[in-house]
Amino acid sequence: MKGVVLAGGTGSRLFPLTKITNKHLLPIYDKPMIYYPIQTLVDAGIKDILIVTGGRNAGDFLRLLANGKEFGLTHLDFTYQEGEGGIAEALSLAEHFADGERICVVLGDNIIEGSIREAVEAFRTQPSGARILLKEVEDAERFGVAEIVGDKIIGIEEKPKKPKSNLAVTGFYLYDEHVFEKVKGLKRSERGELEITDVNNSYIADGSMAFSYLDGWWTDAGTFESLLRANNLVAETAEKRNSD
Ligand code: G1P
Repeated sequence: MKGVVLAGGTGSRLFPLTKITNKHLLPIYDKPMIYYPIQTLVDAGIKDILIVTGGRNAGDFLRLLANGKEFGLTHLDFTYQEGEGGIAEALSLAEHFADGERICVVLGDNIIEGSIREAVEAFRTQPSGARILLKEVEDAERFGVAEIVGDKIIGIEEKPKKPKSNLAVTGFYLYDEHVFEKVKGLKRSERGELEITDVNNSYIADGSMAFSYLDGWWTDAGTFESLLRANNLVAETAEKRNSD
């Protein structure tokens, strides 16, 4: 399985912090944000990784990450996203890299305490389709929200005003080789983007979407509140590890 880290976008919710740099290069405690999703993939046993980025700071990623030595890697792939077309559009740039293999896609601003290894292993034994990771949250209206009936996922709503559950769809997505056909069939949403939630709902409609629950804390870091929260959670976890 190959890994894809999506690290593009304008980070407009973090202006002026993102006026002169990319959101994923901002610090989270003692490391740049992009280090965390890369480490999550490496910890899950995924070593063949593509970074999708764009904008004026794309070159900084290559200077920062080089060939991934700090993660025990000998090679990293990079690709460039023109414009701001949304998560699914960024994902479409990974088709060449995926080359028919399954992929684990990680949003570059999603940071976790634990590991996605179990979900990745479960997906390896899944005959086809996709798998997402869900997490109970108190502010579900900020995220894609899953509706579960029995042991089945029946739909996802993107940032609903009245969430049907408290289960957020986290930014870790496991897809089979059909994901790129699905992206090609998408229409732009009201905000002019190709939405990852529409890709996931297409797998749900096919009856081939599975899900796992994420253990430990999870946060995004795309707003001032969540960026601060991410810093605090990482710092607290590091302090706890050091005192153990
Ligand atoms: C994106 C997705 C959303 C998901 C979230 C996780 O939202 O659209 O479904 O729950 O990432 O971080 P964004 O934060 O890009 O608006």
